[in-house]
Amino acid sequence: MTTPSKEMQFAIHMAEAAGEILMKGMGSGVRVEHKQRETDLVTEYDRRSEACILERIRREHPDHRFLAEESGLSGEGDEPLWLIDPLDGTTNFAHSLPIFSVSIALRKGGQTLLGVVYDPTRPECFWAERGKGAFCGTERLHVSKTAELGKSLLVTGFPYDAWTSPRNNLDHFADFAKISHGVRRLGSAALDLAYVAAGRLDGYWELKLSPWDVAAGGLIAEEAGARVTAMDGVSDYLNDEPSLIAANPALHEKMAEVILGRG
Ligand code: IPD
Ligand code: CA
Ligand code: CA
Repeated sequence: MTTPSKEMQFAIHMAEAAGEILMKGMGSGVRVEHKQRETDLVTEYDRRSEACILERIRREHPDHRFLAEESGLSGEGDEPLWLIDPLDGTTNFAHSLPIFSVSIALRKGGQTLLGVVYDPTRPECFWAERGKGAFCGTERLHVSKTAELGKSLLVTGFPYDAWTSPRNNLDHFADFAKISHGVRRLGSAALDLAYVAAGRLDGYWELKLSPWDVAAGGLIAEEAGARVTAMDGVSDYLNDEPSLIAANPALHEKMAEVILGRG
């Protein structure tokens, strides 16, 4: 195994500490609030987990900036920038379904340098540094070799405005459900990407995401051999409202054809 750098170890420790906080709240009848929509939930544990991470960044790297889901963008200037989802899978967490994660990435020079996706329920720690491969704990990760949609197990998610918006992904869901072994909806985009990296799932697509959902998982999937792009099949996936296709290169091309076939 490549030894994780000091910065990678720092990120892993933050994710583990935040995950410990989440495990204390899991199943304890947490109070759930809504954001702008009835379907977009937040709990005190999203905030506690985020506070734990931000406190460590402020202490160790007072000059670094962050973009965190619950606190927004900090400071002025450019990078280094931490992208933080303190609880990816809040809906599952609020329903005591143990599928959620902490996602932390660090960007410098216009690139994601490292990422960690930590699932405290199992526990499993997925991490990667640019150019050094992807790992789950000490085990090296590789995407699956499945090149045919007819033999693939896929995963996706649906946006919080699915009740009202026609761009709700149900069309693509129906398309892929009819030509694959199945389409899963786990409820944590970061874990979806980590599972593609681990070869547990063959491909993932989703629209209307946020940078903190996908920065860490995207790098982990890429470092495990995935092609990760926006839903047009070619553009960079990391922007203000990311959409993604992530899969091994052969399957990525086939998924993009199905998605683009709808225009
Ligand atoms: C959500 C999860 C979900 C995805 C949503 C995300 P949250 O993040 O990643 O799988 O479908 O689009 O917003 O709100 O639980 O951090
Ligand atoms: Ca999220
Ligand atoms: Ca979140």
